[in-house]
Amino acid sequence: MTLATSPRELNDGTTIPAVGFGTAGLRGDDAVEAVTAALENGYRLIDTAVNYGNETEVSEAIRRSGVPREEIVVTSKIPGRHHAYDDAIASTRESLERLGLERIDVHLIHWPNPSQQKFHETWRALVQLRDDGLVRSPGVSNFTQAHLARVIDDTGVRPVINQIELHPYFPQEEMRRVDADLAIVTESWSPMGKRQAPFAEPVVKAAAEAHGVTPGQVVLRWQLQLGNLPIPLSRNPERQRENLDLDGFELTADEMAAITGLARPDGRLFGGNPDTHEEM
Ligand SMILES: NC(=O)c1ccc[n+]([C@@H]2O[C@H](COP(=O)([O-])OP(=O)(O)OC[C@H]3O[C@@H](n4cnc5c(N)ncnc54)[C@H](OP(=O)(O)O)[C@@H]3O)[C@@H](O)[C@H]2O)c1
Repeated sequence: MTLATSPRELNDGTTIPAVGFGTAGLRGDDAVEAVTAALENGYRLIDTAVNYGNETEVSEAIRRSGVPREEIVVTSKIPGRHHAYDDAIASTRESLERLGLERIDVHLIHWPNPSQQKFHETWRALVQLRDDGLVRSPGVSNFTQAHLARVIDDTGVRPVINQIELHPYFPQEEMRRVDADLAIVTESWSPMGKRQAPFAEPVVKAAAEAHGVTPGQVVLRWQLQLGNLPIPLSRNPERQRENLDLDGFELTADEMAAITGLARPDGRLFGGNPDTHEEM
């Protein structure tokens, strides 16, 4: 067992690997190949979504990899256009069909889309899907403190995960504290910073040289030491392995502070503020 594959406990008593594999933007054969390679390279948490259009490909990759189903945690997400209660139930049944699964391990609300005022209905549907055994663990994505309070007040059920944008230019100190206070795991999307990855930043390069690792490994180790669950995407099998190889070094308190210090006032990649940005 490595640091990246070791189990992380969720607030419903289930577990999930400490690092996952992102699939946004992977389509068709590329998706099947990348996810199959990721499973062969040791990833056991795969992050997909209805809106990624690759649930069928994820299913095919799981089949091809030969990895036993029970070893894999599959995460998917309900899109904004399916937020009404009945639509959320139907959406999840369709995801199950495409994924070829009897149960989705972790199912999330992709974006709160506050102007629709339906995310709390979607949450009630997710809790029902859990009670009916079609979803193991319900969670959310891109939720603020107010969105979390609304769904918890409504149902008494806390999401297991809040998947939010989180990378060195946008370390989300406030939301990490909010999630931690509710025992919700903060899962980092675009954990490298995607096209704005800070690999050339002197503090990241210096830490990489000091520990004999790559800048990518430094950023992922920073994520783990903050208590986050990163879901990096790589199409490249070598970098897939590198992103799981996070043992054998530890960032110092100064290195951690220096990387967090890269934060920018609005370090978001594309202005994805959940109070205003909506996705259907
Ligand atoms: N919930 C949401 O709203 C939301 C939004 C965005 C993303 N997500 C999820 O988060 C996942 C990850 O985010 P992301 O794909 O946007 O960005 P990311 O994981 O931060 O970055 C991916 C990019 O970094 C490169 N890369 C990966 N490992 C590397 C390494 N060790 N060294 C150098 N470059 C490396 C990859 O290139 P190569 O392929 O060439 O290695 C790829 O171009 C998504 O795939 C998706 O599952 C969720």
